[in-house]
Amino acid sequence: MIKAIRGTRDLLPPETALWNFVEATAREVFRAYNFQEIRTPIFEATELFARGVGEETDIVSKEMYTWEDRGRAESDKGQSLTLRPEATAGIVRAYIEHKLWDRGLNKLYCIGPMFRRERPQKGRYRQFYQIDAEVIGPASAGSDSPARDAELLEMLATLLDRLGIRDWNLELNSVGCANDRAKFNEALRKALEPVVDKMCADCQRRAVTNPLRVFDCKVPEDQPIIEKLPRISQFLDEACRKHFDAVKEILKADGVEFRENDRLVRGLDYYTRTAFEFTHGALGAQNAILGGGRYDGLSEALGGPPAPGIGFAIGEDRLVMSLQETAENILRKPDAYVAPLGAGMNQEAARLARELRRNDLVIELGDENFRLKKSFETATKAGAEFILIVGENEVKADAFTLKNLATGEQVSVPRGELAAKIRAAK
Ligand code: HAM
Repeated sequence: MIKAIRGTRDLLPPETALWNFVEATAREVFRAYNFQEIRTPIFEATELFARGVGEETDIVSKEMYTWEDRGRAESDKGQSLTLRPEATAGIVRAYIEHKLWDRGLNKLYCIGPMFRRERPQKGRYRQFYQIDAEVIGPASAGSDSPARDAELLEMLATLLDRLGIRDWNLELNSVGCANDRAKFNEALRKALEPVVDKMCADCQRRAVTNPLRVFDCKVPEDQPIIEKLPRISQFLDEACRKHFDAVKEILKADGVEFRENDRLVRGLDYYTRTAFEFTHGALGAQNAILGGGRYDGLSEALGGPPAPGIGFAIGEDRLVMSLQETAENILRKPDAYVAPLGAGMNQEAARLARELRRNDLVIELGDENFRLKKSFETATKAGAEFILIVGENEVKADAFTLKNLATGEQVSVPRGELAAKIRAAK
């Protein structure tokens, strides 16, 4: 038997209803904040991620699905391509390619699969889904304002609340700007020198190439050493500190709770200033449901004009996991099972089912070849609330036998009152 590849999986009903609920709710919330959808390709030039996300990150150095694509003709040369491990780099590429700065401030969102060759475990897959949103534009459009950071975080709090996720924590930090980073990296190098030989091989490499990345280390033995390292919060310049303070002030005024965490540096190189994650207790080790931050130099790094931006990506797989508790309310079972009884009744039942579905009811339709007993069994298995019998007598009377499968109560209801009667029982 051929099975799905390790780290990938099928999403099956009824769980797919939860995915649809999450995406529909996200789209609704995005709309209220005037975000619009963008769709970018799921593979891009490898160089985009190397330059955008950073050569030294775990994502680029170990986790990308990259291949040499063959050209088909002189004009269609081969090149190195990569399945997108994240959405931000592609969206900023599109911003530059289509000169989206002409539109002022762009508020964009994108929903789709991402690919990372990570070690699969609960909440971590090699094909996973993100709901990603980005705010990007020229500074003259206000893209660098702390008001944008706070608005984005408030939108996330609203979305999680709307989804019925209660116990989330917002972890907030500022990772400063390029200036601060240079000083911080210098201090980190110094602090790492005497201890680095006790650390894992990855950290020994990071200490030389990009010391900030030691904060990505998950090796338990390295954690006490990392705990004692200097923090970026000690190196923020005046402008970065002011920006961070302003974000926090607005959040407090909004009533959005957060916790400052100065160890939070995020695993991608493009971040500047505000960086954040929302975590959820029920998720275990992979407890970040979403992460994001500001990336004020990314457009320039990709060859574009200055375009400050901020965004986030929700891990949809994890969000759906944290939602399982409320799943019962979302998964809609059929309201009624329409059971044709006897020859020629399929037509009558089909007509009735159509009427009821137009009244926004979920209807399962049976078959006249089923005996009454089998119709009952099928209706019960489908989880229908009612069974509705369509037999010759019912059609003549234009009133139908409606039986509540849970209570056993049975009544005869005129055609015109059926939809209201079924709805009233919900
Ligand atoms: P990220 O932190 O790498 O950020 O990923 C965001 C979220 O995607 C994570 O918090 C997690 O919920 C989910 N995620 C990541 N890897 C996996 C995986 N292997 N399996 C399941 N879920 C996963 C970014 O991707 C940035 N592009 C976010 C961003 C947008 N920053 C600014 N704009």
